[in-house]
Amino acid sequence: MVVNMGMYNDKVMEHFMHPHNAGDMENPDAVGNHGSPVCGDMMEISIKVKDNVITDAKFKTFGCGSAIASSSVATDMIIGKTLEEALAFTNKTFIDELGGLPGPKIHCSVLAEEAVKNAIWNYAQKNGLELEGLKGYDPNKEFGHDEEEEECEV
Ligand code: FES
Repeated sequence: MVVNMGMYNDKVMEHFMHPHNAGDMENPDAVGNHGSPVCGDMMEISIKVKDNVITDAKFKTFGCGSAIASSSVATDMIIGKTLEEALAFTNKTFIDELGGLPGPKIHCSVLAEEAVKNAIWNYAQKNGLELEGLKGYDPNKEFGHDEEEEECEV
């Protein structure tokens, strides 16, 4: 299915054209990543943490406009949040912040949720933290999709 750029709202387009927090981070405290089983795209999120608060976040995403926009809002939203607050964010949180995504592109926002969780899991592992929001989290799980499989075209 071809997704028309016109299907994206202005906020998604703005984050896609001018993403926030893109690039490398020097000496991150933890790095998380996740690949989409739907399309094979990848997202990496690096974080710095002080006193259980995320003080900085950067992303590198090999993916579509929707994945890049999701990375941009996700990193914006987790900066300044405690680890538990950031763990409470879901892909729905990021979609709401973007003002919506077209149905076939919703799975792209799941990359952001999973990459954030993976980064925090990584931090917790390194620092021997037990976080409520990570209970039951499996870094190797494949997430399910309600959407039909789509190819990356935007
Ligand atoms: Fe691959 Fe969006 S992340 S299509």
